[in-house]
Amino acid sequence: MSSYIRRKTPGDTEWFVHDRFGMFIHWGLYAMPARHEWIRYREEIPVGEYEKYFKRFDPDLFDAREWARRAKAAGMKYAVLTTKHHEGFCMFDSKFTDYKCTNTPAGRDLVKEYVEAFRAEGLKVGFYYSLIDWHHPDFPIDMRHPLRNRPKEEVEAYNAKCDIKKYAQYMRDQVTELLTNYGKIDILWFDFSYSGDHDEKKPWLRGKGKEDWEAEKLIATARALQPHLIIDNRTEIEQDLWTPEQYQVTDWVRHKETGELVTWEACQTFSGSWGYYRDEMTWKSPEMLIQMLIQTVSCGGNLLMNVGPTSRGYFDDRACAALDVYGRWMKYNSRSIYGCTMAEPELRATCPNGCYYTQSEDGKRLYVHLFRYPFQFLEIRGLAGKIGYAQFLHDGSEIRFREGKVDHFSEGATRADDLVVFTLPVVKPDVTVPVIELFLN
Ligand code: GLC
Repeated sequence: MSSYIRRKTPGDTEWFVHDRFGMFIHWGLYAMPARHEWIRYREEIPVGEYEKYFKRFDPDLFDAREWARRAKAAGMKYAVLTTKHHEGFCMFDSKFTDYKCTNTPAGRDLVKEYVEAFRAEGLKVGFYYSLIDWHHPDFPIDMRHPLRNRPKEEVEAYNAKCDIKKYAQYMRDQVTELLTNYGKIDILWFDFSYSGDHDEKKPWLRGKGKEDWEAEKLIATARALQPHLIIDNRTEIEQDLWTPEQYQVTDWVRHKETGELVTWEACQTFSGSWGYYRDEMTWKSPEMLIQMLIQTVSCGGNLLMNVGPTSRGYFDDRACAALDVYGRWMKYNSRSIYGCTMAEPELRATCPNGCYYTQSEDGKRLYVHLFRYPFQFLEIRGLAGKIGYAQFLHDGSEIRFREGKVDHFSEGATRADDLVVFTLPVVKPDVTVPVIELFLN
């Protein structure tokens, strides 16, 4: 069994650390301007001007079962959908606001269709819920708000009319709806706090954090309804999940006070944007997509890879192509991801350059992911006597190996008692990242 002990979590994370791979879905009115989900902030769009999207939001091609089938085919085991993003628009039929999808030409509860479709395909379901809300009348202007550059007097007059306690209650009411009306929810993903932010030039703009959200009460409300929930750390109150974002961490994330290994999930994007961004071109290569998943699991983490659907309700060709990259690789190599974690320390120390290890939770199988495909031979020190059998994972073809030394006419041989040398085909198999599966003694 793995020797790594995770810090205890209040929610049920056992299934989560087994399943490893999920789909993040950022979908809202911002799919219509189609130039980033922070569009209101970036272009300082007043709420009245943004109404043109509300009036015309009509995802006529939305088919949640198609989304679920694509997530499943990509090897994803769970999903997290934005029920409300910073724009404040609700993708569910909330009693507490008129700013919701059922009041647009969509005319339907999109969250309801999402949970039903993804459950039907056997995936776990999660909700993203933004703590930030640029539309709610009781949410004060701050340095991350679309109206942040309005004159001080205007900002202060606006904020004098805001009662953040009413907004905190609104969030508790909506979280209650989300955890009451849609069955068993597995993940609740809050986003995000910034109480440490301040602007020297505009001291009247104050960052927001757990006190503003009344986060203790918000979390207690959620836990009372669905105690098993996996809740993230972005309310500024530690719960189940640490959430590095758009960053490839290189070791298992640890608790900053106790140093314990924590349960963590990296959230990443296919391109630079979470929401659908028509003209954004930084789409990651197939190699990078697969390597991000492997490297994340090799450090004991989960990967939540994001899709930004179009305002018509479908995944565009670029997103489908990226999902297909995962599907093709996971079809034959998912055994090195599901139920796997960081390799034991003494094994991890043997990992050659250009490779990443994962190891099955039961300790019996070690996976060598060949990020850089070597010419004909792969030398690994420290594994002699430990390997019962070796094969390529994708096709189950044997990989022969020898131990101790290998002759190559250069004054003798490469020799070391703990050496293992694997013989590989010269031509790299047609696999984005080939994997050698080692059955350990
Ligand atoms: C950041 C972005 C937000 C996105 C989130 C996903 O907080 O500001 O738009 O939803 O990351 O983790």
